[in-house]
Amino acid sequence: MQLDFPKGFIWGAATAAHQVEGDNRGSDFWALEQAIPSFFREPSGAACDNYRRFGEDIAMLARLGLTAYRFSVEWARIEPAAGCFSPAALAHYQRCIDACQANQVRACITFQHFTLPLWQARRGGFTDPDFPENFARFCEHTARHLSGFEMAFTINELNLPALFRDSLLKEPTSEGAIARLKAAEDVLGGSVELLFLATPPTALLSQGLLAHARGRDAIKARHPDVPVGITLAIQDEQAEPGAEHLRDQRCEDVYQPFLEACAGDDFIGVQAYTRVTVRQDGSFGPQPGHRLTVMGYEDRPQALAQACRYVRRLCPAPIVITENGWAGEDDRQRCAFIGEALRGVHGAIADGVDIRGYFYWSLLDNYEWLLGYEPKFGLIGVDRITQQRTIKPSAVMLGAIARRNALAPAEGAVSELSGVPAVGLSC
Ligand code: BGC
Repeated sequence: MQLDFPKGFIWGAATAAHQVEGDNRGSDFWALEQAIPSFFREPSGAACDNYRRFGEDIAMLARLGLTAYRFSVEWARIEPAAGCFSPAALAHYQRCIDACQANQVRACITFQHFTLPLWQARRGGFTDPDFPENFARFCEHTARHLSGFEMAFTINELNLPALFRDSLLKEPTSEGAIARLKAAEDVLGGSVELLFLATPPTALLSQGLLAHARGRDAIKARHPDVPVGITLAIQDEQAEPGAEHLRDQRCEDVYQPFLEACAGDDFIGVQAYTRVTVRQDGSFGPQPGHRLTVMGYEDRPQALAQACRYVRRLCPAPIVITENGWAGEDDRQRCAFIGEALRGVHGAIADGVDIRGYFYWSLLDNYEWLLGYEPKFGLIGVDRITQQRTIKPSAVMLGAIARRNALAPAEGAVSELSGVPAVGLSC
């Protein structure tokens, strides 16, 4: 049976400026990528050259059948020095919005996606007492100069450091790790906690949530009709028998306060990739024996619907799935992942969970932060030398689902994928 989605359901794909634009020289991540030695497997460099090729990329997204594009504006380009704004950068992002409109694609803008201007990182990143005010000023100025966007996200995955920082901040033991940490601290002029991904949870809950609220109000003051929200990283959190209380405590720390604080927003952005299981010793990770993606995540498309159901219990705001995706070379697996994830979303909607849209991560094979270019999440492949784009079968499949606003019976089912090529066709 065909699974119909609610009328007006949003179908899109997402990117983030630093991961696709290229040459994002004023940001903290760029500086850290150049450190010798560096935490980063490789520097972002030209990325997908999307700063110049945005028109082509947006037209491709539209031709597939998708009607929404989530992308981020880069604070380091718009405000390269504190209080000094770049009209050229703002004009660029206006051109991106215009290109969306020309292709009947809704422009959906993230104001901060992990990177900070190096000047803000050196002042303390999210822990700088002026951070909420600086972020609000950036949002106000940007919102005043841009028009025609239809949805806005203040901060991408504000809670991610609470999930991730312990692994990043492990006491370095090898000589190499000590040298990488020292080089990073030299670049930042202080502790690595100045980097968003390593922000202490207390600062996320105070400064971070305040910055979100002030940024949201600044955007809404200029665009009262545009829905504005935050996005959060939500995993499907399970427990080994006997570890339920540890799992519950973890959820209370890393999700609950963020969801409660954003309960009154226009929507909540849910970004879900996998399931983790909390063990009796307090550690957590994939279930033993389960297949992993190249990210080391448990390959578990059902996690998306579970994450939405969890969010619904704590936060009454409508849900927009702002990221969900699969990294790897075999596109048949990506098709299967998307199909299964969407079957779960359809089931959750049928059970009353208010989900308004789905953005696949990512439109393009892009720069996966510390891991460089190896993990490939894209619906569209990008040749690292020529920048040539390649449409993958998963892109065509998701476009077809979007056009009919429904999942066809065997769409994405592994049994149906034997004739689908594992890689895409050059375009
Ligand atoms: C981030 C993206 C990232 C993706 C895959 C999300 O946490 O928002 O920037 O590329 O996950 O790891």
